[in-house]
Amino acid sequence: MMTRRKFQEWSVILLGGIAQAAVAVPALIYLLVPGGKKTGGGWTDAGSIATLPTGRPTEVAIQQERQDAWKSSVETTTVWALKKSDSEIVVYSPQCTHLGCGYHWEEGQQHFLCPCHESVFSKDGAVVSGVAPRPLDRFETRIEGDRLWLGPLAQQEGKG
Ligand code: FES
Repeated sequence: MMTRRKFQEWSVILLGGIAQAAVAVPALIYLLVPGGKKTGGGWTDAGSIATLPTGRPTEVAIQQERQDAWKSSVETTTVWALKKSDSEIVVYSPQCTHLGCGYHWEEGQQHFLCPCHESVFSKDGAVVSGVAPRPLDRFETRIEGDRLWLGPLAQQEGKG
């Protein structure tokens, strides 16, 4: 037969265990289950190559899946694509290699210009002038049918 005192002791122990489990289980899952911050490592559909003009850099909107721990979301961003031919397309990261500002294509000057600290890049992404330490970073690309796919971003070396 359980006394009132024993019942209270066991109740306190049981409730304490439940409270500890409520804190410990999520913490253990966070520590043990792989996840962490990462962006979608897969390939991203960048649209039809038929819409890209040949020889002129074009800003292209893409949607990338982003995985942040257990939360998955889709974000829209842009990249710069240069179609040299139907089988050769170069795609640049939208961020300047100096401090990551957005740059734009100046058709009149035939250069990419970064207004933050006045870095200038050629159509091929090489540094023409300014403080940028290296050429524009490029995405790995592949063409399937008339679709352009973007893979991982590769950092370029040197000035150009
Ligand atoms: S961020 Fe582009 S020049 Fe500084």
